[in-house]
Amino acid sequence: MLNRVQLRFLSLADNVGLARIAVAQLAGQARFTLSDIEEIKVAVSEAVSNAVIHGYQGRADGWIQVDVTLDEAGIEILVEDWGVGIADIQKAREPGHSADPERMGLGFVFMESFMHGLEVESALGEGTRVHMRRFVTWSGELSRDVQ
Ligand SMILES: Nc1ncnc2c1ncn2[C@@H]1O[C@H](COP(=O)(O)OP(=O)(O)OP(=O)(O)O)[C@@H](O)[C@H]1O
Ligand SMILES: [Mg+2]
Repeated sequence: MLNRVQLRFLSLADNVGLARIAVAQLAGQARFTLSDIEEIKVAVSEAVSNAVIHGYQGRADGWIQVDVTLDEAGIEILVEDWGVGIADIQKAREPGHSADPERMGLGFVFMESFMHGLEVESALGEGTRVHMRRFVTWSGELSRDVQ
């Protein structure tokens, strides 16, 4: 294992950017290209935004945990909240399905298309766990210094 990081923060919209930057920085330690990292950032933003908006429904006193494991094969990201939970996960994952008519209902679709695996576990009144992984597919030289 190369690295492992856990972040735990309150359900504030401002913390979405924090999680996104932290995961991007970690992904930069593996052999991901910049465009891979852009996609990983979108997937993390979508999962954390869902925890803030839907999981805690705007309440700012809920905990969100992001657990990132990095190894030679790629990155695994677990985004967890202890909010309201999802009644029907299959339906929630359908393109265009949203609890809010103002929203696109595309968050899970982005997570699914940008990552190589997406698993969602949830229980009403208990919370939601979104588990994503992405494998390193690039084997050439990276033309940048990874910090
Ligand atoms: N962490 C969560 N807790 C509770 N419900 C959730 C959670 N994540 C997703 N959901 C439910 O799943 C639905 C679909 O999520 P998805 O991210 O695909 O779309 P959206 O958030 O409604 O819209 P968009 O992401 O395009 O702004 C949400 O509308 C919500 O009902
Ligand atoms: Mg969403």
